[in-house]
Amino acid sequence: MTNISNDQLNIRWQDVTLDKNTRAKMKAQVPCCIWLTGLSGAGKSTIANLLEQRLFEQNHHTYLLDGDNLRHGLNQDLGFTEIDRAENIRRVAEVSKLMVDAGLIVIASFISPFEAERQMARRLFAEGEFIEVYIATPLAECEKRDTKGLYAKARRGELKNFTGIDSAYEPPENPEVVVDTCNLSADACVDKIISTLRVLRNN
Ligand code: ADX
Repeated sequence: MTNISNDQLNIRWQDVTLDKNTRAKMKAQVPCCIWLTGLSGAGKSTIANLLEQRLFEQNHHTYLLDGDNLRHGLNQDLGFTEIDRAENIRRVAEVSKLMVDAGLIVIASFISPFEAERQMARRLFAEGEFIEVYIATPLAECEKRDTKGLYAKARRGELKNFTGIDSAYEPPENPEVVVDTCNLSADACVDKIISTLRVLRNN
């Protein structure tokens, strides 16, 4: 078995000449990670998609990381146990950090059900660079929508560890933005996220 800590003793940080600020300046933007968390069916992907389009129209350089999509590639070896979800979030948080370092505005859309992993993600970024958006659509509404039919499957016992049914979702303790899609359209949710970004930038 590989001894990771021993191996790491032999790895040094390699300095590179171009840094985040230089890359961000060329893109004329302030890079950041906008992290969307919420139950399956809460509306994360719809909002993430609209948000990216809106930022693109404002000439921003963006990238959208979506849970379902990344589980087709980078994270295809991971399932939905607590350990696998933690590893899922660790990997995507590290990828987000690299993309922010590249000067991009990253939108990360993952259930990310556990506070500890979301805090771990936040700690990877500089102050003000991680913007946590809680898509607070209640479980009853997500289950009623059940766009992918997964809640019905979970209720029938055909899908284990389903968030909200037999796996926990811990609401964020201190998110920068909260939106509930029961009261707001997806467009209005995006407006709220963008105006919060502006306020945070001006502080
Ligand atoms: S996370 O919990 O590890 O952050 P992630 O956002 O990557 O989850 O993936 C969630 C997506 O996987 C859901 O939108 C849903 O389509 C699918 N999925 C499949 N099985 C489960 C499950 N047991 N719990 C939650 N989502 C699941």
